[in-house]
Amino acid sequence: MSASGWALKPLPDMSEQQFLLWRDLLESRTGIFVSEQRKSYLQSSLMQRMRELHYDDYQAFYDYIINSPLGKIEWLQLVDCLTVQETRFFRDAAAFKYVASFIRERQLQFNKKNPLDIWSVGCSSGEEVYSLAMLSQEALKPFGKIDTYMVTGTDISVPVLNKARLGLYSQRRLSNLSEHYFKNYFTRVDADQVEVVAGIKYKTCFAQVNVLQLDKVAKTQRHIIYCQNLLIYFRRWRREEILNHLVERLSPGGLLLIGMGEMVDWHHSQLEQVKGHQITAYIKRAGHKNN
Ligand SMILES: C[S@@+](CC[C@H](N)C(=O)[O-])C[C@H]1O[C@@H](n2cnc3c(N)ncnc32)[C@H](O)[C@@H]1O
Repeated sequence: MSASGWALKPLPDMSEQQFLLWRDLLESRTGIFVSEQRKSYLQSSLMQRMRELHYDDYQAFYDYIINSPLGKIEWLQLVDCLTVQETRFFRDAAAFKYVASFIRERQLQFNKKNPLDIWSVGCSSGEEVYSLAMLSQEALKPFGKIDTYMVTGTDISVPVLNKARLGLYSQRRLSNLSEHYFKNYFTRVDADQVEVVAGIKYKTCFAQVNVLQLDKVAKTQRHIIYCQNLLIYFRRWRREEILNHLVERLSPGGLLLIGMGEMVDWHHSQLEQVKGHQITAYIKRAGHKNN
């Protein structure tokens, strides 16, 4: 059959048994839990990739992923289709406003030897990382300290990290950026695309990290850990486990920011919740260092 024939061919519905196999595989490898109500989401995401590879049987594709050596490589691509990657610049205005005030208040402690160290966990295509970098630059500029920060973005998806590293965006994706940010931090590439300026890219780095494997991540003490719109895809016990690992990687006095409602009624003995501000944030109490 021709390639266009494959693209048009309708794939059959997933059986209950196939749904459970795929659901368990996704959860064991990424932590993402797909409820019965979201079966059609899982099916359509899989279909997208199966069509590209000319598979028309969920079981055969599953066997390929599990048993074939090439399945390991394919998984890297497939995970990109199975994860929700929606993001945008300055997505949560209240959270970014709080981060800016947090940085300004603590600017005295940052210098070239001890730069402000920010980690965006589940950073998708980089908008969150570049927003944090631009915001840090703006917050530190009045103190002559634009060289004293760095932002690391991590995600499970290699293709999305490659996009993030490029820092190329359609101008439409910048619609909620102020004129100031647009003028100072982007250069035009063509009629539609703009690129993050080198001075900001230079302050960022991206790496693949699966949050199910945070125990393998060095306990570098970050000043800010920003983890939004990721925990919602996990079961509560897993969210708790991930947050506990993040707390171990937060410096005393550091800020942990998660999405509103992503972890209701959660307390940690080393953290104090930030009240007001319409955000879900915690400050790590002084005297707790994890080495
Ligand atoms: C909805 S996006 C959120 C992006 C950004 N944080 C924001 O709020 O705009 C969720 C991201 O989490 C990533 N992700 C999903 N499971 C993950 C895992 N187990 N480890 C690390 N990243 C994961 C996805 O690839 C996706 O890029």
